[in-house]
Amino acid sequence: MQRRPRRNRKTAISRGFLKETKLGVENLVQPFFLVDGTGVKDEVKSMPGNYRMSIDVALIEMKACIDLGIKSFILFPAVKDELKDSVATYGSSPDNFYLKAFQTFKEQFGDEVNLITDVALDPYSSDGHDGLVQGNEILNDETLPILGELALAQAKAGADIIGPSDMMDGRVEYIRNVLDNNGYENVSIMSYTAKYASAFYGPFRDALDSAPKKGDKKTYQMDPANKREALIEAELDFNEGADYMMVKPALPYLDIIHVLKENYDIPIAAYNVSGECSMLTAACQNGWLDFEKAMPEMLLSIKRAGADVIITYFAKAYAELVRDGKIA
Ligand code: PBG
Repeated sequence: MQRRPRRNRKTAISRGFLKETKLGVENLVQPFFLVDGTGVKDEVKSMPGNYRMSIDVALIEMKACIDLGIKSFILFPAVKDELKDSVATYGSSPDNFYLKAFQTFKEQFGDEVNLITDVALDPYSSDGHDGLVQGNEILNDETLPILGELALAQAKAGADIIGPSDMMDGRVEYIRNVLDNNGYENVSIMSYTAKYASAFYGPFRDALDSAPKKGDKKTYQMDPANKREALIEAELDFNEGADYMMVKPALPYLDIIHVLKENYDIPIAAYNVSGECSMLTAACQNGWLDFEKAMPEMLLSIKRAGADVIITYFAKAYAELVRDGKIA
């Protein structure tokens, strides 16, 4: 045999020498679910180890993550039903605890943290949809001004990166204009470029109690069968000024991550969503998979596919494995 690939794998040194992909804690984003109040730490049943936290509790958790090298966070609000209405008023209301959270975290940690928002109507909407609902339709153009208001309120509250997750057409350009016209030209946009109508968001909707009251999200989120359509979304987001393009979910869509990475030179983000996390956690709790090995392999595969940054509920756990010297 002239070629024996096993020669390059023969020692740990050789394998380390030739490792093509490395995943650092600085590439990871830890999501937080926030609630109003104080002293709240309420576990999400379908996401063991993940909590709805009030700001005071989240501050302590954020510090623990920072000490482990996790500097980027994406925040989501779990809003009481009585504050929801059809036009998502609470989303940009001055007494909104979610906006206060950005202020508080920035006052506490300043440039030590990189804070990402979520822009969509669903956490605040009595319909549980990402856009305005009229009959059976989710309105596009009428939704844009509300998205603009959410984004502006979040920028004012100190967010570093605005994260439109709503999948309305034209929203990146709309939000970019609103931010620029108000002096926030340095606030970035991480667009959910290829966000699929996926079953893997189930546990997240439990966490926020944000499932659609009626129908599904298939008229705005993408069909899981489609890849070329992701290139149309990417072209639009790129031209509209997105600073990052996200693919979501991650694991069942590694081919989409790859195709965006090959075609665009701006950073690609991947969202390793709630259902992917719960699936792995459940198998590990049953003793069917080894968490310390399977979890890093899962994240590495997302990086290898082309993600520059990964949003994952395992960010902190990964950082703990790195600290403990358990990641090669
Ligand atoms: C809402 C939003 C969703 C997620 C992030 N932002 C759910 C949805 O679109 O229904 C899902 C994240 C996850 O499952 O971890 N706009």
